[in-house]
Amino acid sequence: MKGTFPISKFRELETPFYYYDTQLLRDTLTCVNNEAKKYEKYIVHYAVKANANPKLLSIIRENGLGADCVSGGEIRAAIQAGFPSSKIVYAGVGKADWEINLGLEHNIFCFNVESVPELEVINELAGTKEKVASVALRINPNVGAHTHANITTGLKENKFGINLEDLDTVLDKVEALPNVKLMGLHFHIGSQILDMGDFIGLCNRVNEIQEHMYNRRIIVEHINVGGGLGIDYQHPNRQAIPDFTEYFATFHKHLKLRPQQSLHFELGRSIVAQCGSLIAKTLYVKQGANKQFAILDAGMTDLIRPALYQAYHKIENITSEEPIEKYDVVGPICESSDVFGKAVDLNKVKRGDLIALRSAGAYGEIMASGYNCRPLPKGYISEDIV
Ligand SMILES: Cc1ncc(COP(=O)(O)O)c(C=O)c1O
Repeated sequence: MKGTFPISKFRELETPFYYYDTQLLRDTLTCVNNEAKKYEKYIVHYAVKANANPKLLSIIRENGLGADCVSGGEIRAAIQAGFPSSKIVYAGVGKADWEINLGLEHNIFCFNVESVPELEVINELAGTKEKVASVALRINPNVGAHTHANITTGLKENKFGINLEDLDTVLDKVEALPNVKLMGLHFHIGSQILDMGDFIGLCNRVNEIQEHMYNRRIIVEHINVGGGLGIDYQHPNRQAIPDFTEYFATFHKHLKLRPQQSLHFELGRSIVAQCGSLIAKTLYVKQGANKQFAILDAGMTDLIRPALYQAYHKIENITSEEPIEKYDVVGPICESSDVFGKAVDLNKVKRGDLIALRSAGAYGEIMASGYNCRPLPKGYISEDIV
């Protein structure tokens, strides 16, 4: 089944562009909120890195989520979209001084700290401002995730977080620094995770760490388990809203919170991926030696996930109902990796046909680049064009 799109309106727009179905986004957010509120003190932040389109950010903010940022630019984008700074968390393995200062000036909820040198710098900069920064320690839990190697973050060999063996030293350090206050523990094991067993592995590790800290008489105010819930790229319409029921229930069942502790989540992909499609125009259909190419006006500069992670996006010819043929669907960029899909079944393609690359709302528009001196794609929400 293909997606439904306002084709005649699309014909008036310059391609390529991102199109966001805001009804689906709103329904997804309602579902997230309804599922999270079944449990006490479950707080959801939206991971701005997935998509910082201001119109989407406003809708997400209206629905009460906090913001999870990984740069000063994202903190600015979140504040501009109206997220209260008291709901902003800031992670990142390389926070620059100006970014830390920005967070301090806005009194953000928490810095998720990834190393001792970073902790020292936050302490120093907070001291200069006569402030005490709230920090959570981002722990590398050494828990694997069954996902692509490039989007696994919680293994020892990854650059993220503080190694478990160093936890005691870091805890001593935090206690000794006057301008930081330990508020929480932060984890994030990876992205596009569909196996709840991976999250159970994380919960078990968090429980062990909490036990260890309890023996040192330390109970933090909050635990942040990051994001990572995956979506169904193969069938965008089958379950357009991911299974948040099972997701939150998994944490409820396996993660032992201490009394008064809150549990924070940083969901990106699962919130915005399915509402977005990249819409491109077919420039040429070219016969190759043993195959045919559909050459689009969108390329890896507009949607880099297939080239970067060998990611799959469902591709549809939304302006043809002719019989199915096979195509390698490629972009115009001067790179051999500029391929969206090989041997893709599409309704017969001709020059001018509009092609939708589905499930592109997360890590799509935000990762677009100007390589080959190309303009960035525009982003339209459904309200813009009906
Ligand atoms: C620290 C952190 N939190 C949250 C996320 C969001 O992850 P996802 O989009 O998979 O939910 C990421 C993405 O990799 C991240 O690095």
